[in-house]
Amino acid sequence: MSLLQNASCAASQRVYDTLRHAYAQHNSSQHSDTMAKLLILATAASALQLPNVLKRSKAAPDLEKLRFLNNDDARTVAQDFGTPTYVYDAATLKARAEEALAFPNAYGLTVRYAMKACPNGAVLKLFESMGLNFDASSTHEVRRAMRAGVPASKCSLSTQQLDDDAITLMKEHSLEINCCSLSQLDTIGSALPGAKVGVRFNPGLGSGGTAKTNVGGPSSSFGIWHEQFDEVVALAKKHNLEVVRVHTHIGSGSDAEVWKRVSSMSLDLCERLGDSVKTLNLGGGYKVGRMAYESSTNLQEVGKPVTDNFKAYKDRTGVELKLEVEPGTYLVANAGALVTKVQDVACTSGKDKGNDFLKLDAGMTDVLRPSLYGSQHPLVVVPSDSSKDADENTHEYVVVGHCCESGDLLTPAPDEPETLAPRLLKSCERGDLLVVESVGAYCSAMSTAGYNSFPTAPEVLKTSKGGFVSIRRRSTLDQLLQNEVQVDASQL
Ligand code: LLP
Repeated sequence: MSLLQNASCAASQRVYDTLRHAYAQHNSSQHSDTMAKLLILATAASALQLPNVLKRSKAAPDLEKLRFLNNDDARTVAQDFGTPTYVYDAATLKARAEEALAFPNAYGLTVRYAMKACPNGAVLKLFESMGLNFDASSTHEVRRAMRAGVPASKCSLSTQQLDDDAITLMKEHSLEINCCSLSQLDTIGSALPGAKVGVRFNPGLGSGGTAKTNVGGPSSSFGIWHEQFDEVVALAKKHNLEVVRVHTHIGSGSDAEVWKRVSSMSLDLCERLGDSVKTLNLGGGYKVGRMAYESSTNLQEVGKPVTDNFKAYKDRTGVELKLEVEPGTYLVANAGALVTKVQDVACTSGKDKGNDFLKLDAGMTDVLRPSLYGSQHPLVVVPSDSSKDADENTHEYVVVGHCCESGDLLTPAPDEPETLAPRLLKSCERGDLLVVESVGAYCSAMSTAGYNSFPTAPEVLKTSKGGFVSIRRRSTLDQLLQNEVQVDASQL
């Protein structure tokens, strides 16, 4: 990295830190919008500049390491289950759940696992056994949780698409709902007058790791816009609904300062609604470091000022609000790894320098996040032959997936899915394994399997005792085709 780049990196970090500090200190609501905008600008500037500097430095200096597997584990998984295979670690899942259950709170806490992150029944069962509840994003997810033995009464639904089953689930199975639009509030009110409901607001401010994962502010359709507050009150009155819960979720990979600021804005909404509100759900979005150079949110740190705000709320209103949080990423991201195989190589260097490509037997079918967001996932080469474990040779590779898409890329530049960023890895050859780390959240769940007719990869759990158990088998071509209707060409 050049001196100039270093200086610009340090300067942008300083501006960012100063603004963040000013923002955190700032209590006057008079200027809070301006401060919030400045903070977003600073966050964006920092996000734009810092990763670019990292990109120019080409590759992180240290090789990434396996998190919960060792080389022999990876070879065992490949041998016993084939490749690619997702592996989840029960010990890590439990440790993260314990941390979430210790989230600071003044008057009670419900931790809801955002099951959209990784909805395998074994993961749901494990979390339920530890006392977690669940956030579902569709009635289908609620039904899926029920199939895993989770009662619907432990789920709350915050959905972009309300369907009739939501009413059935509320009536017959005590499902809780956070109405996410005025029309949802009207529909629920018409079907179940007098019901207890939650309301999801868009508080006017959002923050996510990328624009695609920011779900607050005017560019986002999630929740009821905060300025439609009076319409919420009118609809609740019309249908005699009791608004018992306020819900906000502003994005994934949120800046902790913005998240804290939104928690205060959400308390204002509770206060304006009055003492029917007994619970404030602050959503998920706690940033997790996947690469060695990234850091994770400290839940104790972000939760402490929120607890103080809840106490001040009690002093003002007499209401002891219960806190709900809905982490997805935080609970599972670093508890998952995908064991893949290098099935081919390609080189485009000739007269000019090109790239050395590693082609995996997995890709956007299994880990879409790099292609979609430019997300960074650690990549670790595991030699097929253990005698090569100690080899120290390294090489820069562009790692690609198996789909016929140039966008099927595992090594994009940070936040730039269309830019190739060669990564320094242990030298490897066809047949070696490559473990894609930190794939526990939104990888299996967002699989595009079926494209190019590739199957859905299996999932296994590394149990607390250390063995590997299958929790989902690899899909077959028959399963891919099971709903396709056979027609005779003469009918067409
Ligand atoms: N609560 C609600 C209402 C949500 O919509 C979400 C995520 C969460 C909680 C959990 O957020 P988390 O703690 O996982 O950040 N596909 C993206 C993330 C989209 C998340 C959508 N909603 C990714 O790969 O990062």
